[in-house]
Amino acid sequence: MSADQYVVIGNPIAHSKSPAIHARFAELTGQQLDYQRLLAPLDGFGSTVHDFIAKGGKGANVTLPFKLEAFALATELSERAKIAGAVNTLKFEQGRIYGDNTDGIGLVADIVRNAGIKLRGKRLLLLGAGGAARGALLPLLQEQPAALTIANRTLAKAQDLQQQARSLNDHCELQACRFEDLQQPFDVIINATSASINDDVPPLAATVFGKDTLAYDMMYAATPTAFLRLAASHGAQCRDGLGMLVEQAAVAFALWRGVRPPSEQVLAEMRAALLASQA
Ligand code: ATR
Repeated sequence: MSADQYVVIGNPIAHSKSPAIHARFAELTGQQLDYQRLLAPLDGFGSTVHDFIAKGGKGANVTLPFKLEAFALATELSERAKIAGAVNTLKFEQGRIYGDNTDGIGLVADIVRNAGIKLRGKRLLLLGAGGAARGALLPLLQEQPAALTIANRTLAKAQDLQQQARSLNDHCELQACRFEDLQQPFDVIINATSASINDDVPPLAATVFGKDTLAYDMMYAATPTAFLRLAASHGAQCRDGLGMLVEQAAVAFALWRGVRPPSEQVLAEMRAALLASQA
């Protein structure tokens, strides 16, 4: 019998690191599976998924720009996918399409487990109010921070997210504002804007960063993003999104295979490879 088939679907998809991560997870857990990249046409996500299911595919990761379409395509959704309004993991079983969102839980796992920073009782700042921020909302609130401020260029979107957060958690102090309104320091600042893609950074006052502040960029790149460069220049602790990428993959892998892969080891290997490529 051939190995179970999985894919990561996106457009573009050539640079996805997911196949390497899942291949390593499979190797380390002794699971037999095949994981490939799958480019879907921009107007053909649904048919690409259905073709893959027809060929016996067992599951898929979904990346830009299809996370909302994957949400719509799923016949069943996890609670966190419903709240995120987006799906990054699909599981195909007996005619059902189960949709989950492992991005936010991957972010939290990387901060709490890998970086060793507890979020309980902390003051958090979430930058951005788009899909990435929404995906992080429930997993962040589940850690029971003391306060969560959502700051966004477009204030109304931050306020919408604040309303959603209020319906999920009535213990946490919640605020929504523009970047320019921020002055007090935070324990953890998470950049969920897409500004880093253009090497841009939201206009943040130096006073939001303290020496114990963790500045986390959901994105990762070979060199530090503009947000991490700014945070470092103000003395904050910096962390990029490589660990989030590995941890979201680990949760997807566990959903598909029923086995938790050694994500810390794979993250350490990827970090070492990244550093070696820069040397
Ligand atoms: P994603 O799925 O990556 O979250 P998105 O839903 O389009 O993408 O959301 C992008 C987020 O990044 C939004 O919060 C956006 O701010 P607006 O809501 O005001 O559009 C934010 N963003 C994008 N470019 C930015 C920039 N240069 N500076 C600050 N915020 C930016």
